[in-house]
This record gives sequence, structure tokens and C-alpha cells, in this order.
Amino acid sequence: MNLAELNKVAEAMVAPGRGILAADESSGTIKKRFDVIGVESTEDSRRDYREMMFRSTEAMSKHISGVILYDETIWQKAKDGTPLVELINKAGAIPGIKVDEGAKPLPGCPGEVVTVGLDKLADRLPKYYAQGARFAKWRGVIDIGDGIPSYACIHANAHALARYAALCQEAQIVPIVEPEVLMDGDHDIDRCMMITEWVLKETFQELFYNRVAFEGMVLKPNMAIAGNKAKNRAGIDEVAEKTVKMLKNCVPAAVPGIAFLSGGQSDEEATAHLDAMNRIGNLPWKLTFSYGRALQAAPQKAWSGKPENVAAAQRAFSHRAKMNGLAALGQWKADLEKKAA
Ligand code: 13P
Repeated sequence: MNLAELNKVAEAMVAPGRGILAADESSGTIKKRFDVIGVESTEDSRRDYREMMFRSTEAMSKHISGVILYDETIWQKAKDGTPLVELINKAGAIPGIKVDEGAKPLPGCPGEVVTVGLDKLADRLPKYYAQGARFAKWRGVIDIGDGIPSYACIHANAHALARYAALCQEAQIVPIVEPEVLMDGDHDIDRCMMITEWVLKETFQELFYNRVAFEGMVLKPNMAIAGNKAKNRAGIDEVAEKTVKMLKNCVPAAVPGIAFLSGGQSDEEATAHLDAMNRIGNLPWKLTFSYGRALQAAPQKAWSGKPENVAAAQRAFSHRAKMNGLAALGQWKADLEKKAA
């Protein structure tokens, strides 16, 4: 393993004013997104949609540092035969690959899941590297509810994340370590914060035991945020302050950067939260975005599967990418949204 090279990639993934486009929806998830806009999910429609984003030169060359791909996409070619990976590289972004195989029920822990996919991972990683992937993603899922999460669930997911991360670094691929505490439910921000701290502490302990080099990874956490059904949702400043406090308590300064998931926040909420955190300043790591929904909801709607909408969809994508790029610098303003509308 060449740690200096891994660190260079990790730093580039969180470069100032840039963040990651999470375009790695599984076939099941992208079908759900396409159902909303009335588009049939086929190999070609998924290709057309993602090609539209990767050809958004404005967004890709200025605000997007890397793209997380799903297995199908990393092998796909654009309509004109250019590999999609080449489009991403040409725009100056780094191709990455989701390598986990989804979450499965965790025996003995009703209502809880563990992410699988370690068995053949050591064989799969060199193939992804040869295809151009320089980073990978693995997502563990922790749900908050009555009597959950259990320590068994937190430990199993943290251990799998650490095993995955060690295998990635061995294959010269930067691991995005994503332990996601879900926003589903009516819990308040303090419960989210307490559970997320527990999850992050366990995750970094497992990373240490598995000899993962912190300089060569990127953390992708949830923010400290109230559940989506909570009666009192915390405001923007409270989310920012509590998230930064939580991260300072758990994430070693050796980690180059933290790229948040959006997790069901609205587009503008996800941007405002990131911006408010960066305005606090004086942080040991870069704070940026690795958004799926919060970057893609607007372009998906604008595109709606019609070739004549490609330019409008690219404008919508570029706008969100630019807003989040500014938020990664703490330079976003709410009225920039209104001007665009
Ligand atoms: P969301 O931003 O839609 O939560 O997706 C990010 C992601 O990659 C989840 O694994």
C-alpha cells in the first residue's frame, strides 16, 4: 500500500469548494426515484440519466471532486461509445465505486440489519481499480427506535466497515467509511447525537484494530439531526453546532475530510447545514458533501426522461452542485437560491 498516494486521492476528494456526487443507487433504489418522475428504469434510461450528469461540464469541473458509481455504471458506455468513467475523468473528477452488497437482517436483533459483501471483496477490488475506480464506498445502516440500536448491531456494522476499509487500502483504493444513523422516526436531535457518537467511536476503534490508515480514508456520516417525524426539529445552527461537537469528540484529526450524506434532508436544508458548519471554522478536517438525493432531486425532476430536457436538467444539477460547493467553503447565502429560481 502506498499511503502517500492514498492520502493524495483522499485530499482531492475533499478539495476546497468541491464534494462528491453519490450516483450509486442500486437498481432497486433508482427504480423508486424513476417511478416518481414517470420514467421506466432500464439499462439505457439509467445510462442516459447518469450520462446527463457526467456531461454537466460546469458542475463536474468546478464543484464535483468524485462520483460514486454503482457496479452497472462503471462498466457502461455513453451513447456515443465513450466509457462513462472516461467522461468523469475528463471533467476532472475521480471515479469511485459502491462495493457493499446491501443490508441484511441481523440474526438475534429484530428490526436491525448488517451490511454484507466482504466475502469476495479482495478479488473484486483490483478489477474496479483497473476500471478506473480510485475510491470506494460501503454503507452501514443503524436505525433508531424502541430499544434499538443494539450494541450487537453497532459492533457488527463497525467491524464490517473496518474490514472493508482495510481491504480497500490494500488494493490502493481510498475507502469512504459510511456508518449511517437513519433520520427515520420521531427521536430528537440529542438522541441522534448520542447514538451517532456511539457509532462513530465504535467505528474508529474497529478501524484502528484493523490497521486502517486514517490519512487514507474519508468519513461519510449523518449529521446530528432530529428524526423526520420529530415534533420539534432542531434549527440550522443547532444542527451545525451539535454535529461539529459530535465529530470533534469522535473523528481523529488525521482523517483528511468528512463528506456528509443527505439522508432525506431537503435540498436546501442539506446545503444550509453544511454551510453553517463551515462558518464555525477552525476545524481539523475538511467538511463537504457526498449527497445523493440532495444533489439529484432537482435534475431528476427537470429531466423526467426526455432528451429535450437534458440542458434544463444539467442547469438544475449545476445549480445544486454550485450551492453545495459554496456551502463547503461556508460561503453560501439563501438568496442565491431565490435568484436562481
Ligand atoms: P443521500 O445523500 O441521498 O442520503 O445518499 C448518499 C448515499 O450515498 C447514501 O449511501
